[in-house]
Amino acid sequence: MDTIATAPIEGQVPGTSGLRKKTRIFTQTGYLENFVQSIFNAIGGADDKTFVVGGDGRFFNDTAIQTIVKMAAANGARKLIIGRNGLLSTPAASHLIRLNKTDGGIILSASHNPGGIDEDFGIKFNVPNGGPAPEGITGAIYHQTTVLQEYRIADVADIGLSRDGIQAVGAMQVEIVDPVARYHDLMETLFDFDKLRALFASGFRMKFDAMHAVTGPYATAILEKALGAPEGTVINGVPLPDFGRGHPDPNPVWAKPLMVLMMSPQAPDFGAASDGDGDRNMVVGRSIYVTPSDSLAVLAANAHLAPGYQAGLAGVARSMPTSAASDRVAERLGINSFETPTGWKFFGNLLDEGLVTLCGEESAGTGSNHVREKDGLWAVLLWLNILAERRLSVLEILNDHWNTYGRDYYSRHDYEAIPIEAGNEIMDHLRNRLAELPGQVHGDETVASADEFSYLDPVDGSVSENQGMRIQFESGSRAVFRLSGTGTEGATLRIYLSRFAPPGDDHGLETQQALRQVQQAAMAIAAVQAHTGRTDPDVCT
Ligand code: G1P
Ligand code: ZN
Repeated sequence: MDTIATAPIEGQVPGTSGLRKKTRIFTQTGYLENFVQSIFNAIGGADDKTFVVGGDGRFFNDTAIQTIVKMAAANGARKLIIGRNGLLSTPAASHLIRLNKTDGGIILSASHNPGGIDEDFGIKFNVPNGGPAPEGITGAIYHQTTVLQEYRIADVADIGLSRDGIQAVGAMQVEIVDPVARYHDLMETLFDFDKLRALFASGFRMKFDAMHAVTGPYATAILEKALGAPEGTVINGVPLPDFGRGHPDPNPVWAKPLMVLMMSPQAPDFGAASDGDGDRNMVVGRSIYVTPSDSLAVLAANAHLAPGYQAGLAGVARSMPTSAASDRVAERLGINSFETPTGWKFFGNLLDEGLVTLCGEESAGTGSNHVREKDGLWAVLLWLNILAERRLSVLEILNDHWNTYGRDYYSRHDYEAIPIEAGNEIMDHLRNRLAELPGQVHGDETVASADEFSYLDPVDGSVSENQGMRIQFESGSRAVFRLSGTGTEGATLRIYLSRFAPPGDDHGLETQQALRQVQQAAMAIAAVQAHTGRTDPDVCT
């Protein structure tokens, strides 16, 4: 075993979801090692502990895993459970952590960001409940990175990642496991597989775009092999280190071919996609895209149709920028609803305490208490289970939902890679004007209230501040401003726009059209053009 002298490396600050950087930063000598040692130090050492390790298969995934194996061995870990070939979807990793009652897990992914030597890499630590480390722990990891003087790494050969079974690395055991099997078991406990088989047997057709990312093997095993969907249902199903040079982000922009298919006369009944590490999902019906905010609301309203949720839900939580559609369902069902900051880590306590059953974010994340991460394929299976029970099209389900609860028109506008200073200036500009905004008229919108969101965790009493600016208009529309915490280049300004059309109103407007007024008011209030020179977003989801 070797102890290697090192020195703190600046900027190893975990963001919304772990540490994300350009791959070339991660491949610098000591960069990954410093961070991994800081994880172990922050949790009181790795001695005698068991961890799950896996990643989304992007470039550098296998090299990073070999380093983690050697460091875990040198730090005295008892056992590592690793997905075959280093692959584990984020929800499958969360499940293995819980199932094996491990001391946590290390997940290698930059989620929906592209992969490759000139693209992005990421690493995060999940705690024993299976969820992303809460801020107390990510703060402790960051602190360790600022004082680190040495790391420990065993001077041993690389392990074999391709064959299932147990091997020894010094005194440590490494178990290579099938990445899909246990996850597959879990899905069978939640959904009516017989009914889903009957659905496909009756001619129901779908396309699942795995975007050359980690969900390919999961979707193929479950949809095609177990449920009998025809071969070819899963497209781009082989994980590739560069995701086939794509951007594995399941939204209408990056999953364009699927969108085009679903809007065409050849569209199958259902379309879905998942991201780099398998925690995000996109759901699209024939000629209708389902916003993630609506998807959460529809799932909440119909979850009882799936066996795993037939007893009803304890509550629903959504991140603050997500539309209020799920709140409306929770209110009618008489169950809890919570509004949390952006990032899945804020749902963990609510799930652990049994306060909520479903959670979701506008960024294509939906999940439940079955794991402690969002789960792309789970969301797809729950939709399928609902479709199998209700025997309606996706469009019919949405129209029925909007007629009952009203429609929250919703879109997120991203201004990517703006200078960091410009991003901070916009947020400061808003912060300094919050008090004077109420009453101001911008075009057809009048500001009703404005504040900066902070969250008091009802379970552990922790407070998270600076979680985004909220501007509520008298019309019922809303604009939210945040800077991304997962980007790796400059700053990304996210403007989240919503407008409520109650039951009986026109629900057939084009989304951007419906949001035009609130968008113009938001741009004026934040002086986006003056700060960035930009008039239009790079991406609208
Ligand atoms: C983004 C999403 C957020 C999600 C996170 C990790 O974070 O907005 O909802 O939890 O990715 O998938 P952001 O870049 O906005 O900080
Ligand atoms: Zn992801």
